[in-house]
Amino acid sequence: MREKFDIVVACDQGRGIGRDNTLPWRISTDLKYFKELTSTSPYASEGRKNAVIMGRKTWESIPSGFRPLKDRYNLVLTRNPNYALPQGVLKAPSLDEALKLLARGPVDRVFVIGGAEIYRQALIHEKCGLLYLTEIRARFDCDTFLPLNAEQFKGFYRLLSCSEVMQENGLDFCFKVYEFNYPEFLAFESTEPAEEVPNT
Ligand SMILES: NC(=O)c1ccc[n+]([C@@H]2O[C@H](COP(=O)([O-])OP(=O)(O)OC[C@H]3O[C@@H](n4cnc5c(N)ncnc54)[C@H](OP(=O)(O)O)[C@@H]3O)[C@@H](O)[C@H]2O)c1
Repeated sequence: MREKFDIVVACDQGRGIGRDNTLPWRISTDLKYFKELTSTSPYASEGRKNAVIMGRKTWESIPSGFRPLKDRYNLVLTRNPNYALPQGVLKAPSLDEALKLLARGPVDRVFVIGGAEIYRQALIHEKCGLLYLTEIRARFDCDTFLPLNAEQFKGFYRLLSCSEVMQENGLDFCFKVYEFNYPEFLAFESTEPAEEVPNT
């Protein structure tokens, strides 16, 4: 398993990511991008697969016919030791326990795929590597938000790449890749306390 995990998220201009435990938009290009990104491993021929870590609510938000997500180890974070999951789906009581568990198996990349509670912990974790952000250039009526405000974002993350702007269903969106900058994060943290639930 690689030393760092990556984060994948789609958010709107208000950093909204969800409503009523579902995605507020439907962008099939983004779903394809997500599937390709999280499923592809150059080590597949050696029997390695990628893993996706998600919160219990995000697990429940995936339609039953689509879960577990194919060709990836699925790991659900829950503090409920009795929470029932289909055979083969992994469970852990914390992000660190999840990473330890996955490190014991034939895992290549690890992706944290939400929701907000899990992003909150993952976005400032020292093992956070890349942030794959689908930026949707519109505002939706969301009840769940990416927990980073614009200032924190600038302080913690460095933009590595940005795709061209694409359009689907009348929505403009693009794929950005950021790198978590841990030393800068530490400097930022020591001067300015982080806000709890930002929405810029
Ligand atoms: N736009 C996107 O890219 C995207 C991606 C994913 C999800 N979403 C949206 O986000 C929303 C769901 O997010 P959410 O914040 O409400 O829920 P969530 O993060 O998916 O799940 C929260 C649950 O995870 C468990 N949990 C949280 N921290 C934990 C920890 N440290 N250790 C163990 N378990 C932990 C708890 O489960 P228990 O209560 O069982 O203990 C908690 O209730 C939905 O609207 C979904 O559609 C959007």
